[in-house]
Amino acid sequence: MSNRPLVVPIFGTRPEAIKMAPIVREIIESELFDCTTVVTGQHREMLDQVNELFGIVPDVDLNIMQPHQTLNGVLTRTIEGLDKLFEETKPAAVIVQGDTTTSTAGAIAAFYRGIPVVHVEAGLRSFNIHSPFPEEANRKITSQVAALHLAPTSQSRANLVREAVDPADIAVTGNSVIDALLSVAEEKLPFSDPRLEELAASGKKILLVTTHRRENQGEAMQGVGRALARLAAAHPDIHILLPAHRNPVVREAILPALEGLENVTVTEPLPYGEFTRALALSNVVLTDSGGVQEEAPSLGKPVLVMRDNTERPEAVDAGTVRLIGTDEQRIVDEVTRLLEDPDYYASMANAVNPYGDGRAAVRTVAAIAQLLGIGTRLPDFGSPAS
Ligand code: UD1
Ligand code: UDP
Repeated sequence: MSNRPLVVPIFGTRPEAIKMAPIVREIIESELFDCTTVVTGQHREMLDQVNELFGIVPDVDLNIMQPHQTLNGVLTRTIEGLDKLFEETKPAAVIVQGDTTTSTAGAIAAFYRGIPVVHVEAGLRSFNIHSPFPEEANRKITSQVAALHLAPTSQSRANLVREAVDPADIAVTGNSVIDALLSVAEEKLPFSDPRLEELAASGKKILLVTTHRRENQGEAMQGVGRALARLAAAHPDIHILLPAHRNPVVREAILPALEGLENVTVTEPLPYGEFTRALALSNVVLTDSGGVQEEAPSLGKPVLVMRDNTERPEAVDAGTVRLIGTDEQRIVDEVTRLLEDPDYYASMANAVNPYGDGRAAVRTVAAIAQLLGIGTRLPDFGSPAS
């Protein structure tokens, strides 16, 4: 055992794995800490796919995923598994990311054991406790118990200050999703599905779609499926690409409307490098994902967000992201406008980087080092000195 403090990054879903990967790598490279990487396995296949790409081999795997798992099931299995680990290993700090149930369970379990909680991607707020559900509540709970709040942007920092978080406990790092995106952007991985290589070679306009949000499951998601089928029929020259989330509830809602349509391709979740290549090839992005709202603007892709609110207002303000809700007719109208009005398209297709500059992991590790008394923070992302 070394004299270095033990830090424990905890994650469990695809988006957390993508956003934690640059941070875990930076922790290890810094040689400032001992590191025990813990995954809950809230997602199984989609988590493993990311870890494999980034070469992250978890030290502990709680393997909690169950078919049709409930929020309380995920919460309790995570807390139970972590509590034993914390008792045995006594970490100096735990690191959680975002607003999933893995993340909040990790924060509560650590807080109850008196372990400082580092919250990565802190301060995002939709200001509606029911939407996204339960993520808005999850991130607010984590903010209550965190010792160090790593806000991606100055707006997320301001949200925390408004909630009376001590400004001294906040650092603005940028979002590590941009670190992850930049790290795979140059690789130009071949698609493992030959249909996608064919699509890439065809030069067709691509509408890239992802959906999974709990609030949209059921009737709203069925409407999304119908809207896509109508768009496919009205625009035979475009191609719709839908990498389907593994959640069976999502698949049952959206896929029936798309069966047998020639210009629609449904795939398994794409490995991250392949997904970012698909993003770069696409013309329009239609999504309810949080991460995709952050990535697509930096590639200059217009994003239509199938939600009524967002905790990521920066790219909306920059004009690249538009909130359109889930009404079937509205989806058809908004996509059609982008496909048919080149001036309107150009007004949204701006490459903007409000979420990061690729150095979030370096700032994160410096802030954790300061928290543990072995280093000094770097200037905030977006500050004149950064
Ligand atoms: C969760 C997160 C959400 C995040 C999303 C990312 C919470 C409360 N929600 O969504 O914030 O945006 O993940 O995708 O933590 N499944 C598999 N294999 C996988 C992944 C999922 O089979 O690799 C299936 C399982 O049957 C599981 C279901 O999908 O029961 C839903 O997964 P879950 O993590 O519970 O999804 P959400 O809570 O909707
Ligand atoms: N993503 C991926 N493969 C896919 C679809 C998405 O790697 O087939 C990535 C995407 O680039 C983004 C992340 O998954 O970084 C978003 O995950 P998701 O939409 O599941 O969760 P959210 O961001 O909404 O929490």
